[in-house]
Amino acid sequence: MIKICVVGATGRMGRTVISEAVKRNFEIVGAVASPSNRGLGKTLRELGICDLDVPLYGPSKLREALERADVYLSFTTPEAEAANIPEAANMGKRIVMGTTGFAEDQLNKLKLLVSSRVPAVFASNFSLGVNFLFKMLRQLAYLPSEYEISIVEAHHSQKRDAPSGTALAMAKIVSAARGYSQIVRGRERSALRAHGELEVLSVRAGGIPGIHEVIVAGPYDMISIKHMAFSRNAFALGALRAVEWIMKQDQPGIYSMEDVLGDFES
Ligand SMILES: NC(=O)c1ccc[n+]([C@@H]2O[C@H](COP(=O)([O-])OP(=O)(O)OC[C@H]3O[C@@H](n4cnc5c(N)ncnc54)[C@H](OP(=O)(O)O)[C@@H]3O)[C@@H](O)[C@H]2O)c1
Repeated sequence: MIKICVVGATGRMGRTVISEAVKRNFEIVGAVASPSNRGLGKTLRELGICDLDVPLYGPSKLREALERADVYLSFTTPEAEAANIPEAANMGKRIVMGTTGFAEDQLNKLKLLVSSRVPAVFASNFSLGVNFLFKMLRQLAYLPSEYEISIVEAHHSQKRDAPSGTALAMAKIVSAARGYSQIVRGRERSALRAHGELEVLSVRAGGIPGIHEVIVAGPYDMISIKHMAFSRNAFALGALRAVEWIMKQDQPGIYSMEDVLGDFES
């Protein structure tokens, strides 16, 4: 059984990952939450998270939580990752990280540090559907230039970052395929769309786990490609797939879900 330490264990994603992991071939050996969490020192069973007597630790006891783990699996905040990931990498633990909202230089710093030490998967979206959509978006390079593209994403109102990490990853692919040089995040009054602009719009409402729509509009017709996660289990299952995959990697480096999923053939 693969032994995992879940960092962000009390969060929306952490709880979902734990509930999926215990049904499958994984052993939860460590659980970490924020330093201010009131449940620190209690077990996951006492906290009603799952039926395991694994204690919940704060990040100051990360080393202890990770001791028996094969993989550090996390969904937290960029600030938490900046402190926790270097410690996990220094312990030689494989890493699967789904946190989004990093500043570019913050993420680059982490990648540089991790890439020479351990194998790691960093992914802004672990769902199989979104990763298939990433592949489809590359085909937009072949559409005539009169087609314009916009990305609209919607998430629950507790989400901290906007646009979502997934929308930004889509924007990067679309910009490379279509030659867009600027991202516009909203329009007011009579702001006309200019050549070279890619629209990326965000909606925050209720409990939406995640919707991403790519609108491809020409003068006389349009295509709309939409991915909708029914629940957070879509991300949790992809993250666990990444955990299984990273266990087979010997070379340190930063890998993506594209590496994990290969050509979608298996
Ligand atoms: N890659 C994907 O597929 C994917 C999918 C969904 C979400 N996400 C991303 O995952 C991240 C978490 O999302 P969420 O909805 O689960 O957020 P959330 O419900 O706010 O959970 C955040 C978790 O991080 C913990 N935490 C905060 N500071 C910490 C620290 N210093 N050390 C250890 N743990 C710490 C929190 O502990 P407390 O409970 O004590 O505060 C909580 O358990 C976000 O960046 C989100 O965008 C990614």
